[in-house]
Amino acid sequence: MNLRKIIGKDIYWIGVNDRKTQRFENYLPLPYGVTYNSYLIDDEKVCLIDTVEVGSISEFLKKIKYVIGERKIDYLIVNHVEPDHSGAMQEVMEKFPEIKIIGNIMTLKMIKAFYPDFDENKFQCVKEGEELNLGTHKLIFATIPMVHWPESMVTYDKTEKILFSNDAFGGFGTLNGGLFDDEVEFNDFKDEMRRYYANIIGKYGMQVNKAMTKLSALEIKYICPSHGLLWKDKIDTVIKLYSDWANFIPEEKGVVIAYGTMYGNTEKMAEIIAKELFQCGVKNVKIYDVSKTDSSIIIGEIWKYQGLILGSCAHNNAVYPKMLPLIEKLNNYGLKNRYLGIFGNMMWSGGGVKALECFAGETKGIEKIGGSVEAKGAPSEEIINKLKALAKEMADKILV
Ligand code: FEO
Repeated sequence: MNLRKIIGKDIYWIGVNDRKTQRFENYLPLPYGVTYNSYLIDDEKVCLIDTVEVGSISEFLKKIKYVIGERKIDYLIVNHVEPDHSGAMQEVMEKFPEIKIIGNIMTLKMIKAFYPDFDENKFQCVKEGEELNLGTHKLIFATIPMVHWPESMVTYDKTEKILFSNDAFGGFGTLNGGLFDDEVEFNDFKDEMRRYYANIIGKYGMQVNKAMTKLSALEIKYICPSHGLLWKDKIDTVIKLYSDWANFIPEEKGVVIAYGTMYGNTEKMAEIIAKELFQCGVKNVKIYDVSKTDSSIIIGEIWKYQGLILGSCAHNNAVYPKMLPLIEKLNNYGLKNRYLGIFGNMMWSGGGVKALECFAGETKGIEKIGGSVEAKGAPSEEIINKLKALAKEMADKILV
């Protein structure tokens, strides 16, 4: 059975790998799957920390039984009500009718919204900093609002110095044998961790900063999130990454070019820009066709690099349809601290470049560079020169 005693003599990872679900939150693709991490502390009082998504209940209940046999569970801590973590709560309550569900005042509101039949008598509300004594383990609670929902909180095990961080410090991707950061190649997980951050929590950088400040007072030996790798060797690394991501600080010098094209002329323009960036010394140039690559993957890359160049053909006097969700999301997430270049194709009407310019104007914190370059069909010699000038200006900005 895929479970493991992870820390000390009585703390188990009883999470599940989900390689079947196509899309997280029903819209984000999962090419490498996702985990729902749950933890069981087999102390004098038995305590479960979060559960799993509804499709994994059967496997999850078998793991609980394997660890505790006929004993009962005393507490289920609901760090976060989103159903990828609370999906098995009702089944756990049925199996263990004496269980207490632990959460904060917002947790109860959210549980009642998702599970209207929830019996409030089973709920034990904890306050900020309140302690729960399991016997050997002493747990305390801290809220981290909007990381990822209003009721989100973390549980800190004072005894073993473990932060059960829920969505914070989590990532996409299943755990394929190793659980801890020192048991696997971290770089294999990093892109999916960044994509998770950018698309799930990216909008809430200010709240992430507040949470990090609050948690900085704790001595932390292990971070056990509810998705992806568990952290012990690279705690400083992931805290630094989180801080940078929350503050929109790019990790590397490089440029993402994302374009929407119908018949290839806007793509040709992207290629001209990319070649010129390379000739100017930019080594990391990533080109994405927005019709082919999911916007969540492009957004993850935009979080990584400082330069962004967007290109759109015109479609019904407007931006290319597959470009629209990308710029809407970037605007919604409040993208900052990026240089932006714009190009596109107007044909007879225009609309694509204009929409990108609106995006640039509305998204405070990004700096538009150069003039927008707009072709009429195949790029002319004059347009090619303008594209090269745009690329050179971008290279000058990011290679300082
Ligand atoms: Fe992993 Fe916000 O749920």
